[in-house]
Amino acid sequence: MSSAQRVFSGIQPTADSFHLGNYFGALKHWVSMQEEGSECIYCVVDLHAITIEAQQDPAQLHRRTLVSYAQLLAMGIDPKRSVLFVQSHVPEHSQLSWILQCITGFGEAGRMTQFKDKSGKEGSDHTSVGLFTYPMLMAADILLYNATGVPVGEDQRQHLELTRDLAQRFNARFGKTFVVPEAIIRKETAKFVDLQNPTGKMSKSAQTAGGMINVLDEPKQIAKRIKSAVTDNEGVVRFDRETQPGVANLLSILGAATGRDPESLVADYDGKGYGALKTDVADAVVAEFEPIATRTKELLEDPSELIRAMGDGAQRARSIAAPVMESVSAAVGFVRIG
Ligand code: TRP
Repeated sequence: MSSAQRVFSGIQPTADSFHLGNYFGALKHWVSMQEEGSECIYCVVDLHAITIEAQQDPAQLHRRTLVSYAQLLAMGIDPKRSVLFVQSHVPEHSQLSWILQCITGFGEAGRMTQFKDKSGKEGSDHTSVGLFTYPMLMAADILLYNATGVPVGEDQRQHLELTRDLAQRFNARFGKTFVVPEAIIRKETAKFVDLQNPTGKMSKSAQTAGGMINVLDEPKQIAKRIKSAVTDNEGVVRFDRETQPGVANLLSILGAATGRDPESLVADYDGKGYGALKTDVADAVVAEFEPIATRTKELLEDPSELIRAMGDGAQRARSIAAPVMESVSAAVGFVRIG
């Protein structure tokens, strides 16, 4: 399948479970791309995770890396067809990142809006230099594998632009070495909002614990959260994010879980109340997440098996990354001793 695109994407191990937005917004598409025959390389980016101090607790990082990897397997990433690995297991990521840092302008890096947002929140004394160079590490991730397509959310568009600029700059200065990748930006058709506060995004940092759903949550808990989701007093199921954000959110979730357009679901609730909609949403989400949670728990019961799988993934990743890194070193003029 040499004409198929090669896809690379990464996700940070920064939670004890992926959440509904991660799953329907990104990870489910990772699986689809594999099923559609793309050559897929997926990475749990633990080096990126430690750019923030709150994510540097060693036991927490260790646990979250295992649980993230297990969930990806449980969701259907097949380590035979795709390459699934952990970033810190492939030292070439750090090596290439350094070289890319050396061809990135300080001002150019300072214009990254995600850095400005995050560092603005933390304050400069609590902002690591690693957070500043995060985008060059991300560029290294992608360029080491000659990826042609990179599925990411809209929030990563600027990082992808930087990656393309760096690839072109390196190629122009040192000779053609890298493939210039294309961003595959998901259309944000399904934006999920907080179940308890439907005007805010569903995220880990949300104020209300009841506002989000995790892939590894107990089915009972998922059902309970969906059933207590905040709606409105209209009493009629319509898809209108402005006036009925809570109901629109439920329809978006149901649409994502059933592969249907949320607007087309409205007709099914003609003459029915929100209770019927909530029941269907809860059933659909549980049907999707329960097998993943069960499989994840099974995989976590035998960490040595999981670590063996990581070892295989790392080896496969390295067999692609190491020769690319060698060409980079040669292009830059580093003396080769081996
Ligand atoms: N920065 C990405 C995010 O937060 C994660 C990531 C790291 C990534 N390296 C990557 C995504 C390479 C795509 C390709 O979502």
